[in-house]
Amino acid sequence: MPTPTRMLRLDASANPAESASKQLGDRLLRQARAVNGDLELRQRDLNQGLSFIDPSWVGANFTPADARDDAQRERLALSDELIDELVWADHIVLTTPMYNFSVPATLKAWIDLVCRAGVTFRYTPEGPVGLLGGKRVDIVITTGGVPLDSPVDFLSGYLRQIFNFIGLTDVNIVGADRMNVDADASFDSAIGQIEQSYPAAA
Ligand SMILES: Cc1cc2nc3c(=O)[nH]c(=O)nc-3n(C[C@H](O)[C@H](O)[C@H](O)COP(=O)(O)O)c2cc1C
Repeated sequence: MPTPTRMLRLDASANPAESASKQLGDRLLRQARAVNGDLELRQRDLNQGLSFIDPSWVGANFTPADARDDAQRERLALSDELIDELVWADHIVLTTPMYNFSVPATLKAWIDLVCRAGVTFRYTPEGPVGLLGGKRVDIVITTGGVPLDSPVDFLSGYLRQIFNFIGLTDVNIVGADRMNVDADASFDSAIGQIEQSYPAAA
């Protein structure tokens, strides 16, 4: 039997019960399942249980791994867990709204916890090199009024850069932008993009 694709699903909307980005993520998942067959799924709501980095976290992170004390190891435990999930996954699906032209704070907290020198990227004389690779990343983005790829979209390019930075370059962005202008048209356009990304077998 072929091994199932390991999918990590991350949702960032602060309003998950009514989230358009999350609904589109569900749709993408169904479509990916229809095309790829078996998926082993792990899911994380980024509103739950994340914390911001602080001096004790930074201190622990910059202490060499073999010199960390128990408290420092404990301080990095959540970050380790989030990185382990990324390493585990073959396929990452992230859903997020645009908040104030960029990422929700919970998603930024996740980013700060997973971008770790020596673990997910390393510095070289030629510049930083990502240490993860070989994973597909789908990002579903919703916005109220801002068109994606416009000069005030500080979200889609930023997320692409973050994933590239840790070595994940196969990044596909599905956008339902300008939901406040014509929600149905935005939603339909995003579904079209999903169907194009995962064309049903003929
Ligand atoms: C706190 C907050 C900030 C927002 N900032 C922006 C913004 O800067 N630009 C924009 O186009 N929409 C903005 N929106 C609208 C959301 O991006 C839009 O409603 C989106 O569809 C919400 O996605 P969701 O239903 O998955 O939560 C904002 C919404 C909230 C709640």
